[in-house]
This record gives sequence, structure tokens and C-alpha cells, in this order.
Amino acid sequence: MIFYFSGTGNSLHVAEVLRQDETERIVDIAKVQEKRRYGFPIRKGEAVGLVCPVYYSGIPKIMLGFIRHVKLKGDYEYIYLVLTHGGGPGGAAYMTWRELRKRGYQLDAAFDVKMPSNYVFIGKDADPEEEDRRIREAEPVIRKIKESVLSRETTPMTFSLGSKVSAWSMYPLCERYMPVKKFYTDDRCIGCGVCASRCPEKCIEMIDGVPVWTKNRCIRCMSCVRCNAIQYGNVIKNRRRYRYHNI
Ligand SMILES: Cc1cc2nc3c(=O)[nH]c(=O)nc-3n(C[C@H](O)[C@H](O)[C@H](O)COP(=O)(O)O)c2cc1C
Repeated sequence: MIFYFSGTGNSLHVAEVLRQDETERIVDIAKVQEKRRYGFPIRKGEAVGLVCPVYYSGIPKIMLGFIRHVKLKGDYEYIYLVLTHGGGPGGAAYMTWRELRKRGYQLDAAFDVKMPSNYVFIGKDADPEEEDRRIREAEPVIRKIKESVLSRETTPMTFSLGSKVSAWSMYPLCERYMPVKKFYTDDRCIGCGVCASRCPEKCIEMIDGVPVWTKNRCIRCMSCVRCNAIQYGNVIKNRRRYRYHNI
């Protein structure tokens, strides 16, 4: 069984490629959070995968919440993590290993794959050619991870001081709620409601056909800002927005 979280599609794509066959379930943890049903029966000998993006050298708050509540029932064999990131996985594997251990689960393997960065709030505009190149280069890496999972390969759970420090310092510093009052839509918004339906934290309500950010619990997943009509003050005006091309 694969549990994933994805704001803009990279991690969803990885989860789909990692699926060993049609019978393996892929579970969106945003839906798990919505339904608040955290108990999952796992078949004997099955592998349990966690797939998510790196946020601020750590893992998204929604994944942390999932790990803190999930109840894996049954005789599963192996737990693995796959992180997608834009070049710096930092302390995300360490954070996952530590949180799982607190719950009595053992992380057997941690893998990561570099993909295009979706973080449009800082830095320069993404280069489409560079994005395509990263996507192409990620494919063999993802397939190699799939083979490693199939052969139940374990990876050493030793973490550098740098990764621990980044998980302890950078993550709590950056991973705070983003004040949602700065979000608005410009005149390109057609009121389709996709942003509201996709928001994993249900921050957005459609009021008179217009999205309004009413709940102050945004985790900056970039799921809504994939749409060019969505603005955040002046920060992302005219910025190129990223989403994985199949999404
Ligand atoms: C809030 C936020 C923080 C991020 N922090 C990092 C980071 O510390 N290191 C990194 O390499 N990429 C970082 N990224 C880039 C994402 O990890 C990367 O684009 C990921 O593949 C997106 O996955 P998704 O499309 O499944 O949401 C960040 C992205 C977001 C939205």
C-alpha cells in the first residue's frame, strides 16, 4: 500500500510508477485527513510506502499528522519512504524516521528523487526546459527505486548532523501557517472551484462563485497556485506556476 501526499503532482506521479500492480492501493493522505479514518489493514508480506515532497528540509505538516495517527494493522513486511524535492532533501528522511520510531514503526528504507521545484514564492522563474530535463532524468531513478522496493532493499538510517540541524531549525522556522488573507483571484478566475476542491486543508470556500480563503491553515502545497488567476499579494504575480504535466 502506498500513502502519498502531492501538491502539484510530482509525488503522485512517483506513487503511480511505484505501484507494483493493479491490486496495490494508492491512498491520498489528504483524503485520509478529511475522513479521519487512520486504520489500514495491510496484507501479509506487503510493503508500506510513504511518498511526499520535501518542505523546508522536512516533510509536509499533513504527512507528519498522518504518521502521528496512522494505525497499520497486519503482518506487513517493509516500510519505505520516497521523497520528491527540488535539489535539497535536507532532514526530511530523518524527520520521517524519527516520527515513525516514536509511533513504534521502523523505517526500512529511504529514497529520494530530484524533480522540478514547485516553490514559486521565492527564487527565480522556473525554466521549462530545465523542468523537462529533470522529469526525464527522474524516470530511471524512480524505476530503480521500484526495483529496490521489490527486493525489499534496506538503507542505513544514519543521518548527518547537517540534516538533523536543518530538520530541527529550518523546518519549524518556515513551516508556519501562511496568512491566507493575502490570497485573492484576479479577473482570469472563471469560478470553476477546482482550487477549493483540491485544497488539502480545505482553506478555500466558493462564495458567490468566487474562491475565498477562509481558513488560516494553509500548508503552502502550491496546489491552488497552479492556477494563474490566483495571487498572493504581489509575490507571485507574473510568476510561472509549476504542475507535473500529467496532472
Ligand atoms: C512549501 C515548500 C517548501 C519546499 N522546500 C523544499 C526544500 O527544502 N528542498 C527542496 O529541494 N525542495 C523544496 N520544495 C520543492 C518540492 O519539494 C518539490 O517541487 C516537490 O517535488 C513537489 O512535489 P509535489 O508536486 O508532489 O507537491 C518545496 C516546495 C514547497 C511547496
